[in-house]
Amino acid sequence: MNVDRSDDLDRTRMRTKRLVGSVPENALYRQIVDFLSPLAWDLGHIAEFEELWLVRNLQAPDAPIALKGVYNPFEYPREIRGELRLPGRDELLAHMDEVRKRALLAIEGVRPDGSERLYESGFLERMVCQHEAQHQETMLQALDIPAGEWGVPGIDVVAGEVGPSGGADAVNDEERIAIPAGPFLMGTDDQSRAYDNERPRHEVYLGDFSIDRFPASVRRWRLFMEDGGYQKRELWSDEGAHWLEQSGASHPQGWVPSDDGGWHVLRFGHETALDEGEPVQHVCYWEAEAFARWAGGRLPLEAEWEKAAAWDPTTGSRREYPWGDEAPTPRHANLDGLHWGPAPIGRYSLGASAYGVEQMLGDVYEWTRSRFEAYPGFTAFPYREYSEVFFGGPYRVLRGASWAIDSLVARNSYRNWDLPQRRQIFAGVRVARDVH
Ligand code: AVJ
Ligand code: FE
Repeated sequence: MNVDRSDDLDRTRMRTKRLVGSVPENALYRQIVDFLSPLAWDLGHIAEFEELWLVRNLQAPDAPIALKGVYNPFEYPREIRGELRLPGRDELLAHMDEVRKRALLAIEGVRPDGSERLYESGFLERMVCQHEAQHQETMLQALDIPAGEWGVPGIDVVAGEVGPSGGADAVNDEERIAIPAGPFLMGTDDQSRAYDNERPRHEVYLGDFSIDRFPASVRRWRLFMEDGGYQKRELWSDEGAHWLEQSGASHPQGWVPSDDGGWHVLRFGHETALDEGEPVQHVCYWEAEAFARWAGGRLPLEAEWEKAAAWDPTTGSRREYPWGDEAPTPRHANLDGLHWGPAPIGRYSLGASAYGVEQMLGDVYEWTRSRFEAYPGFTAFPYREYSEVFFGGPYRVLRGASWAIDSLVARNSYRNWDLPQRRQIFAGVRVARDVH
């Protein structure tokens, strides 16, 4: 077997185990909010997904594609998962190991007879790794929900894991970058790693616009708040104003007032100083929209985001990552959960796009004003329930990659999506503007 393939599987699993080891066992069974699963469900579901694709599907490619039992997310939706009786931690981890053994055997046994197109490109293992990494991220989102916010105690991640990210660098956090009008190629035709919703590559024409060099900083968000951003009705859309009234929000999730009249932040159960130079995170779509209006701009379209990240106007070609085609390293972007939070803006000039836009991958996902829809010529692959069933819903597209996500899931064409009222995502905002 190809060594890289099992390396990714191993590395991803080691990270899952480290994550699960960083919380007390009883915390795995607690459902903190009804829109996130208890962590134990994520673990069982990760194993079931791997068993479906790397064991059952490889052994009998014509068998029906379905996750079995309580780990089928459509039969057992998130709001009821807190009621399930799930196996203990040791049993879950042993089951994950046992499925992995069978998966490696099934991969060894694949005959290259043409029936395994999915397998031959390495797509299946990469999909399984990406899926596990995406669930690692939702587990981290659950752990980062502040105690008391939902009437339940939060979970303290083992102290020592969460560290300060260091002081801000001196950069202009309001700098804008002009993106000249013209066509570019959006999406990808890659079948070895990309999800179906990123295909096919197609030409999109965009007029002149500008986009901020950095995601919005905590400093700017504080100015928005001090200027009455959460009170000025004119900054909010009708749906946004409705959310604001229902939620009573007056600051991003996790911010707590400090004794000196400023703000601290609760991260994974630990209160720390809030760095003014960090990108703001844990804001919902409606807050992002109001902030952008306050800043005199608007949220970008996902096409605008992708052009600013991926297009190289001098060669007329796309880049896989903002900086080029070289795989991410810790010098390019803050990924893989290394810092347990976003890093200050200005730290990753090496990761700038061809246009000079920075921190587009790593740190925080960025809300766009686009709804989650199929690209022209879309075909579901390898199953409808990854993307297709979500098209046309109330979901907004988020672009980029968060500090928490594994670098396997970070690329310019990746599309994330969620409901506009959700704040648990490691998401912030990058302001765009029309240029006339
Ligand atoms: C792409 C993050 C929206 O968590 O619902 C996990 C990823 N799909 N298992 C989600 C996913 C199936 C998905 N997002
Ligand atoms: Fe899943």
